[in-house]
Amino acid sequence: MGPIGVFDSGYGGLTILEEFQRQLPQYDYLYLGDNARTPYGNRSFKVVYEYTLEAVRYLLGSGCPLVILACNTASAKALRSIQQNDLPRLSPESRVLGILRPTVEAVGGITLTGHVGLLGTQGTVQSGSYAIEIAKLHPDIRLTSLACPMWVPIVECGEYDSPGADYFVGKYLDRLFSADPQIDTLILGCTHYPLLLNQIRKHTPQGLNIISQGPLVAESLADYLDRHPEIESRCSRKGQTRYLTTESSRIFEEMASIFTRRDIAANQVSLV
Ligand code: DGL
Repeated sequence: MGPIGVFDSGYGGLTILEEFQRQLPQYDYLYLGDNARTPYGNRSFKVVYEYTLEAVRYLLGSGCPLVILACNTASAKALRSIQQNDLPRLSPESRVLGILRPTVEAVGGITLTGHVGLLGTQGTVQSGSYAIEIAKLHPDIRLTSLACPMWVPIVECGEYDSPGADYFVGKYLDRLFSADPQIDTLILGCTHYPLLLNQIRKHTPQGLNIISQGPLVAESLADYLDRHPEIESRCSRKGQTRYLTTESSRIFEEMASIFTRRDIAANQVSLV
């Protein structure tokens, strides 16, 4: 028995973890933020894969029967290889899941115009993973994707309410809506972006559907656990969460407490 592992390059995965804690409070969670090496968004396939594998190995080694990559960049660039090549060798009885699929499944039932915008890191957008999955599941949807390379650093530095954030959020959103003014649904395809929601709302038309992944991914996890009793029965249930970071625990505690509006105690770990 062990906690459900939740991994992100930094603070973004906290937006997913919060929904797990809200919708599935009975389970234990082990959060790992690779804050020392964030952002992943503009790194190569090889590097994102290697960093993600190190994190997954750490979480499996800590007893997690199930690890969620609460990071689109890692889900887009590393998930497939880890599932197919590494997991059978490292821990064949454990599972690693990503967060793209539940997001893509939901979008078809939300858009009315069939015009959808995707914002993500350079890595997520360039991987084409969303475009490929959407074309498979919803071939009628017209997807316009845009990378927002400045947004993750803004969040990681705690500048999410600053004039600089306002400028960079406005800049990318103007670009997206000039490319397709008919967009009625916007996927925040990076788990850091919900932390910029106030700014995003200021720069988007009223009535726009903004998809934050947390609630969708939590529903999908609940469904997964229902369908997989062999994994569910190995998830410990004390309702506790532990937080790990590869950076200083003091910095993580300060920032994570601001983002989640609760007191967080963290431990620093090394993945290599
Ligand atoms: N939060 C991550 C994502 O969902 C990664 C951001 C980054 O490290 O660039 O893509």
